[in-house]
Amino acid sequence: MQIEYLADHPLLVPQLARLHFEQWGYLRPDESLELRTRRLEACCGRGGIPSVVVALEDGALLGSAMLIANDMDTRSDLTPWLAGVYVLAAHRGQGYGSALARRVEEEAWALGVPRLHLYTPEAEGFYARLGWSLDERCRYLGQEVAVMSKQCRPARGSTRPTL
Ligand SMILES: CC(C)(COP(=O)(O)OP(=O)(O)OC[C@H]1O[C@@H](n2cnc3c(N)ncnc32)[C@H](O)[C@@H]1OP(=O)(O)O)[C@@H](O)C(=O)NCCC(=O)NCCS
Repeated sequence: MQIEYLADHPLLVPQLARLHFEQWGYLRPDESLELRTRRLEACCGRGGIPSVVVALEDGALLGSAMLIANDMDTRSDLTPWLAGVYVLAAHRGQGYGSALARRVEEEAWALGVPRLHLYTPEAEGFYARLGWSLDERCRYLGQEVAVMSKQCRPARGSTRPTL
């Protein structure tokens, strides 16, 4: 398994946008697949904010994670955010989701980000196991969500740039 930038695999954008749409489209029922695809394309940076990383095996998509400036309209004071953590159903339970979330933490650390944020309607337990703390539970986009955060720490051997 490799983790690479989606920007280097543009042919995967439509597949990933559809998977995200099927998973989270209910949160924004007025957002079309086309709009979500354009939003995903617009996030395809490398080593910055926004960026999208994908887990791949022999070129096939296993999952994704995103580093974006804002993810909650009601918490524009918080930045940046881990979002779009997704593993295809057939490949879950093999550590890919954890690896993708950790890769985004490393990307954030390398950018000098002190703290990362996320919200999740469904996966609080998954993130708690990865060391994320619960900051707030609230109602957002019609759902009960957990707002969580994590202090960025270096991966072994990485150095933080001087800002
Ligand atoms: C959540 C998700 C990314 C986990 O991916 P994964 O590759 O299966 O994760 P890992 O293999 O690294 O970790 C799996 C562990 O997390 C746990 N886990 C998975 N989803 C969970 C959830 N929603 N809540 C609590 N724990 C969860 C599993 O039980 C498993 O635990 P185990 O090792 O004791 O069996 C994947 O299930 C997924 O894509 N779900 C749909 C999208 C989603 O909910 N994304 C989260 C952001 S809202």
